[in-house]
Amino acid sequence: MRCQSVQLTAIPTGAATAQNFGVFDAEVDDPGDGQVLVGLRRLGLNAGLAHRLGGKGTAYGPGIGVGDVPASDAVVEVLRSSDQQFVPGDLAVGKSPWCTAAVVDADQLRKIDKAASNEDLNARLTILGHVGLTAYTGMIHVGEVTPEDIVCVSGAAGGVGSCAVQFAKARGATVIGVAGSADKVAMLTDDLGADRAINRHAGPAVDLLRAAAPEGIDLYYDNVGGEQLEAALDVLNFGGRVVICGAVSGGSGSGGPANFRNVIYQEITIRGFTVTAHEDLRERFESEVGRWLREDKVRSIHTVFDGINRVPEAFESLLSGTSSGRVIVSVPSQRE
Ligand SMILES: NC(=O)c1ccc[n+]([C@@H]2O[C@H](COP(=O)([O-])OP(=O)(O)OC[C@H]3O[C@@H](n4cnc5c(N)ncnc54)[C@H](OP(=O)(O)O)[C@@H]3O)[C@@H](O)[C@H]2O)c1
Repeated sequence: MRCQSVQLTAIPTGAATAQNFGVFDAEVDDPGDGQVLVGLRRLGLNAGLAHRLGGKGTAYGPGIGVGDVPASDAVVEVLRSSDQQFVPGDLAVGKSPWCTAAVVDADQLRKIDKAASNEDLNARLTILGHVGLTAYTGMIHVGEVTPEDIVCVSGAAGGVGSCAVQFAKARGATVIGVAGSADKVAMLTDDLGADRAINRHAGPAVDLLRAAAPEGIDLYYDNVGGEQLEAALDVLNFGGRVVICGAVSGGSGSGGPANFRNVIYQEITIRGFTVTAHEDLRERFESEVGRWLREDKVRSIHTVFDGINRVPEAFESLLSGTSSGRVIVSVPSQRE
């Protein structure tokens, strides 16, 4: 079968741009035993992939050289199957190369509802996908958020943070989001329902958080570490809780927060988690978040580009921050 694939054509010298990629015709083989031939329906791009272009691999995959076809999270549709779990027309999520069609191992795919709407397909890469399950695990299972809680979320406009804000709101809590621009702050309050939002560039983190939470906070959901974590440890109420999801700022590494003793004085509980250890929560997560989506209590935050030939442009927009939420490329069904 013929397909179109997106390859790296030149190693970026600075930030990657659309010119570093090209779209080419290619041939896909028939699936072998235990494999399926899938057509791409949605491709979810991730900025972390930029670190692998022309360089070494990271924990998320190998280095990507000239002529290579990168791979990302995707929703795919089975076109031909040599595996008893799948029949043509099945929809699934998994990793797919940046190609309109590919042969993949069936055990790397997770089947989803065949009747999924266009919006459902996008949500499978956002609020109902990996970032959604991460936020659900951290906010609902580890953080045990309650309607009485005043919650602060750092990195609140990012993939995980935007879900964490919405899940805390859906459970009735008061939510303060921290983000890095005026546009993101507006999105937090206007689109995601946050009660208050902080632009982290507007002053010292602790002053901004104190002003936004004069009554203190009960639960801090941390995506970034560093200065934001330190500010939260100053503003948390007695018996407060901290959920450590990530540390993108790199600032809460070996040294730890200077005010760590507040954990003693304020009887603060700090708990980290790894989403892959909580696969058992997936059914409950899909059921509860699926219901919130149907009730319009939560939404998928994404920007869609139509067509595989727009992958290079979509990737550039992801890196330059000109799109909001997850950047998704949509490809029409290839079933006759
Ligand atoms: N524990 C787990 O199982 C698990 C699973 C998945 C992801 N994670 C972690 O969760 C975190 C969020 O992931 P994501 O996919 O949502 O990432 P993301 O979309 O890139 O969001 C991270 C946000 O952090 C903010 N940020 C970046 N540098 C910062 C700094 N120096 N200080 C303060 N804020 C900064 C940025 O927002 P602003 O510029 O708007 O502030 C960015 O939007 C990451 O640390 C990731 O590693 C953990």
